[in-house]
Amino acid sequence: MESPEFCSDSQDGESAFSDVPFAPEPLVYAVMAAFREDPSPLKLNLGIGVYRTEEGKPFVLNVVRRVEQLLVNDLPAIKENRVTTVQCVAGCGSLRVGAEFLAKHYHQKSVYIPKPTYSNHPNFFSSVGLVVKTYRYYDLATHGLDFQGLLEDLSFAPPGSIVLLQACGHNPTGVDPTIQEWEQIRQFIRSKGLLPFFDSAYQGLVSGNLDADAQSVRLFVTDGGESLIAQSYSKNMALYGERVGALLIVCKTAEVAIEVESQLKLVIRPMYSNPPIHGASMVTAILKDREMYNEWTSDLKKMNDRLINIRQKLVNTLCDKGTPGDWSHIIRQVGMYSLSGLSQDQIAFITKEYHVYMSSDGRISMAGLSSRTVPHLVEAIHAAVTRVI
Ligand SMILES: Cc1ncc(COP(=O)(O)O)c(C=O)c1O
Repeated sequence: MESPEFCSDSQDGESAFSDVPFAPEPLVYAVMAAFREDPSPLKLNLGIGVYRTEEGKPFVLNVVRRVEQLLVNDLPAIKENRVTTVQCVAGCGSLRVGAEFLAKHYHQKSVYIPKPTYSNHPNFFSSVGLVVKTYRYYDLATHGLDFQGLLEDLSFAPPGSIVLLQACGHNPTGVDPTIQEWEQIRQFIRSKGLLPFFDSAYQGLVSGNLDADAQSVRLFVTDGGESLIAQSYSKNMALYGERVGALLIVCKTAEVAIEVESQLKLVIRPMYSNPPIHGASMVTAILKDREMYNEWTSDLKKMNDRLINIRQKLVNTLCDKGTPGDWSHIIRQVGMYSLSGLSQDQIAFITKEYHVYMSSDGRISMAGLSSRTVPHLVEAIHAAVTRVI
């Protein structure tokens, strides 16, 4: 929807999933299927616990219809029934289900992941026999995106290779491509026939706005090509332990989407059969109620403002103290994380002497900091960079 002029090149041609065979429904659904097919006017389904009206019809709330319409109008892929969505066990479960589906039904077995990336990323793919390769992402010298390195490494990817992309708030670097860079990445990926697999774990926590943080994904969805998206609600709804997420596969046609969904059910059934319902029903309630949705987005904005504020405070305090080094990248980086540039020895020193814990790559989770604790961290960083070479 944003910047439609970016999305002019068409993605016609055959679906990457056109050979996915239709899977028959699992036996447990047989009763429901039999009911559906029974032509008798007397038929009565007492098997499922779903609310019905006196007329025996499902009850769809008017407000739900209105919100749904807004969403449908937003993206042609949804309107055309080309998106298959399965609820999964949070972001990790969505990535794992997507990986297994691809291992079973996709012709290309190479997956390119950013270097560095979320430490669990390689596991989702290697555990299902896919071959994990990396593409350059972070430029140590600028503490920013290594855009040329990214394109160069992907140019060596065999056609059809899967490319894992973090939709926003890149973990662990806090570095995201600009929208113009995203568009170039999109054109590159489409022109080489690569398959994008988005990991969206921080939507809303980069700009404080859900739509702005979805721009990267939308560029790819609106061009008509195929994509996978692992959506997590762990961070942006602070529902970590509830494990709420979904895998979306955007297909070229509605027919392919039906086949893909049938196979996703077969991936999920021996894994966990059905996803937990409690957290998901909370997410659903929030997404379907305009007032609650507004409250959520305004809370997201507040969470985001605090993260930005803390970044600024950390850098200001480092500057005020005269800590050697250029720390401005901490402000340029976005979302929950910042790759500080501290060495492993400096981090070990900080932990031992100042009791500050962070991952050994130097990643600082901004969410763990507060105005009260910034001075302590600055003391620790100052001591580390002046005493540990
Ligand atoms: C980039 C990224 N993807 C996925 C996840 C996993 O999310 P979830 O807790 O929803 O499984 C994380 C968690 O830290 C992450 O950083």
